[in-house]
Amino acid sequence: MNSHYKSFFDLDGKTAIVTGAVGILGQGFCKGLAEFGANVAVVDLDEGRCAAFAEELERDYNRPAAGFACDVSDPESVSNMVDRVGERFGAINILHNNAASKSADLDAFFATTEKYSLHEWRKIMSVNVDGMFLVAQAVGAQMQKQGTGGSIIQTSSIYGLVSSDKRIYEGSFYLGRQISNPAVYSTSKAAVVGLTRYLAANWGDAGIRVNALVPAGVESGQNETFKSRYSARVPLARMAKPDEMVGALVYLASDASSYVTGHCLVVDGGLSAW
Ligand SMILES: NC(=O)c1ccc[n+]([C@@H]2O[C@H](COP(=O)([O-])OP(=O)(O)OC[C@H]3O[C@@H](n4cnc5c(N)ncnc54)[C@H](O)[C@@H]3O)[C@@H](O)[C@H]2O)c1
Repeated sequence: MNSHYKSFFDLDGKTAIVTGAVGILGQGFCKGLAEFGANVAVVDLDEGRCAAFAEELERDYNRPAAGFACDVSDPESVSNMVDRVGERFGAINILHNNAASKSADLDAFFATTEKYSLHEWRKIMSVNVDGMFLVAQAVGAQMQKQGTGGSIIQTSSIYGLVSSDKRIYEGSFYLGRQISNPAVYSTSKAAVVGLTRYLAANWGDAGIRVNALVPAGVESGQNETFKSRYSARVPLARMAKPDEMVGALVYLASDASSYVTGHCLVVDGGLSAW
C-alpha cells in the first residue's frame, strides 16, 4: 500500500522537548510524540518525576527519552536544560512549550479580580509568559544555529481567545475547592497567541514554524455540577478528554503541517463557535 501521506506524520529520529511534561496534558503529549517516533525530552520542575516518566516512555514506545528538571521562568535553568538536551540527543527539531502554573497558593490564584495581588499576578506571568518566551528564545536560537528549522508549538487556552462565562463556576468543585478562571490566566494565554504570531512572522525565513495549540476544558476530576454547567456551553455537549489534544499536537509537530505557521489550532468542542 502507498503510504505517502501517512509518512507526513512520521517523527522518526526527531527530538522533541516538552515542557510541563508530567502534567495532566503533558503526559499524553509526550506519549503521542513518542508513538509517532520522536525522542522525547521530558521537562518539568521535578527531576525525579521527569526521569521516571521518561523511563516509562522508553519502555512503552521503544524510543529514547530522558528527563530534565527545569524552571522555565529562570533563564539559567532554561539555558542549562537546552544544553543538556543537546548533549543527550543532538539537534532539537520540535519544541512543545506547554508549562503553565496554577500556583502553590490556590487562595491567591483563585482570588477575585478586585482583590488579586500583583505578587500573584507576576508569579503566574513569570511562568505562563516569561517562561514561554525564554524557552522559545533558547530553542529558536539553537534551531537557527543548527540550520535545521523546526516546529514550535505553544499551548494557549480557549480563555486566551474568548472570556470564560463566570456562571459555569457556580457550585464548581475542583482541586479540593471552589474554582474560577482568574484574569491572569486569560491574559497570559492571550499573550501566548501574540508571541506565537510574532515568532512565526520572524522565524519563518529560518524554516521555523510556530503555532498555538488552543485547548478548552479537559475533564480531570471536576465535580458533576461543573461538568454539566460547562458541557451545556459546548456544542459537543461535554468536556474534552486529555487524549483528544494529542492529534492536534502531532499534526503541528510534523510535516503534515509543513505550510502552517502563526496559526491557532482550536480544540474546544465548538465552545467558541457560538
Ligand atoms: N487542562 C485544561 O483543561 C487546559 C485547558 C486549556 C489549556 N490548558 C493548558 O494546557 C497546558 C497543560 O495543562 P495541564 O492541564 O496539563 O496543567 P498541569 O497543571 O497538569 O501541568 C502543568 C505542568 O507545568 C509544570 N510547571 C509549572 N510551573 C513550571 C515551571 N516554572 N517550570 C517548568 N514546569 C512548570 C507543572 O509542574 C505541571 O506538571 C497548560 O499550558 C494549560 O494552561 C489546559
